[in-house]
Amino acid sequence: MLHEKTESKEKKHGIIIKEMELDDLSPVFHLGERLFTADVVPNLYRTWDQYEVVNYFLSDSEYCLVAKWNEQVVGFALGTTISKPRSAWKYAYLVWLGVDPAYHQEGIGEKLFEHFKAIMLEEGVRIIFVDTEADNLSALGFFRKMGFGSPRQHIYLSLNLSGQGPRRHGARSPSSGARRVSHGKTEL
Ligand SMILES: CC(C)(COP(=O)(O)OP(=O)(O)OC[C@H]1O[C@@H](n2cnc3c(N)ncnc32)[C@H](O)[C@@H]1OP(=O)(O)O)[C@@H](O)C(=O)NCCC(=O)NCCS
Repeated sequence: MLHEKTESKEKKHGIIIKEMELDDLSPVFHLGERLFTADVVPNLYRTWDQYEVVNYFLSDSEYCLVAKWNEQVVGFALGTTISKPRSAWKYAYLVWLGVDPAYHQEGIGEKLFEHFKAIMLEEGVRIIFVDTEADNLSALGFFRKMGFGSPRQHIYLSLNLSGQGPRRHGARSPSSGARRVSHGKTEL
């Protein structure tokens, strides 16, 4: 017990937050693979794959952070900024935030977020956005603690096109010549 407590304190103090480097790409990707499985992040507009990590690293490397403990990647934050035409306001979007489950609730997520926020303040950002699934209670608890509020619900609909195939111009239905209509499946 005493050993666990001492180790936990050491972790808090030994964690280093720094900008992601080329060598971190693979460990970040593999850690994300463990965290962002299809049932945890089921929407397609945000899919965890190697392109996601590489693209953010190439386009927004100054907003890609890693948390390291004993030289090992134990957490990361990947984000970007958004400026809208005719708006003086600059926004930030913290797209991916993850901490190795063996290190959860040690304050690493908070350290990563505070670092990210400090960078965004320097950039003149006025609002930071995050999003997560409604049932991701740990992330919701975390973001609330970081000061996020005004959650808004967003509903995803899906239309299943399998079986409808591409329609060739002028092609007729094989049987009667009538148009074949498939019913799309809508999930709520
Ligand atoms: C969300 C996540 C990054 C938090 O990282 P963490 O290092 O465990 O968080 P911290 O230890 O810094 O927690 C800071 C505060 O957040 C809150 N918090 C953290 N985990 C929580 C949980 N499971 N339930 C409720 N609140 C929680 C607590 O208030 C905590 O402060 P406290 O320890 O003083 O009470 C981590 O749980 C994670 O990697 N989840 C999977 C990936 C994910 O869902 N990412 C977010 C969407 S991209």
